[in-house]
Amino acid sequence: MGIKALGYVVIATAKPAEWDHFLTRVVGVMRADDAPDGAALYRIDDRPFRFRIEAGKSERLVAAAYEVGDAHELAALGAKIAAAGRPVLAGSDADAAARGVAAFFCTSDPAGNGLEFFCGDTRDDVAFVSPVGVSGFVTGAMGMGHAVFAAPNFAQTHDFYKAIGFGDTDLPRFRFSPDPDDPGMGFAFMHADNGRHHSVAFGEMPVPPSGCIHLMLEMASQSDVGKCYDRMRINQVPVSATIGRHVNDQTFGFYMQTPSGFDLEIGADPLVIDPATWVATAHLQPSEWGHVWAWQTAMENQTAAGEAA
Ligand SMILES: [Fe+2]
Repeated sequence: MGIKALGYVVIATAKPAEWDHFLTRVVGVMRADDAPDGAALYRIDDRPFRFRIEAGKSERLVAAAYEVGDAHELAALGAKIAAAGRPVLAGSDADAAARGVAAFFCTSDPAGNGLEFFCGDTRDDVAFVSPVGVSGFVTGAMGMGHAVFAAPNFAQTHDFYKAIGFGDTDLPRFRFSPDPDDPGMGFAFMHADNGRHHSVAFGEMPVPPSGCIHLMLEMASQSDVGKCYDRMRINQVPVSATIGRHVNDQTFGFYMQTPSGFDLEIGADPLVIDPATWVATAHLQPSEWGHVWAWQTAMENQTAAGEAA
């Protein structure tokens, strides 16, 4: 039994028009017909949707939804999660149909991050056409991309994800200051049963109100990523980290702020692993080059202003 891949995400927002513009005009995903319950659906490939945007009163990643093999595995996973003390809420048949799955349940990790698990996924023959010319998103067996959460109860949350079938890919402690006594921040990058370096990750930090640090989508080429970076700037979307390359998954890409406050990472050319033989690493820094974070730029500007005064 294992986790196959990230299938879709559910987002609640009071800004559906901003999300629509962000997804279709900046990211370049394709709007699908709305769900029967009125939720807006967006596709990046031959799955009927990957983003489910629900109207809400606040900004929140409701769930990252992961696929398992079949109904038997779904039931066993639900029992395991319930035994770990987490709430397990079975989805109705109508809600499953609206998600394009045979069955699913809602739950959360020990830090309270929203999760869904499902079986019986759907593909159709509607051609994916990006409204802004993205040549493609890389999905297939590697799934939609990845979700990154915060987990102040880091060890407990790590134990949870290991117990339910994710595997360790990289377990670093990142230090963001030159202080040798800086204890750093623990991170866990974990894979599902596919070649994507991590399908879920979490850092040892307070959970933000949005319930998410970032989501990641993989584009087919570095040119797709660069053009998306231009659309971010032209549409005045706040950059969260400039273009760079990660050390651990080698992804070339950048981060920008979604209308709900968490980030979206857009990347290309990642390392593809063999989950059956991978030995966990412990890298010392997140980025090989680039990825200048907005908070770093703000600190540098503050320092420069202080020196000029
Ligand atoms: Fe990421």
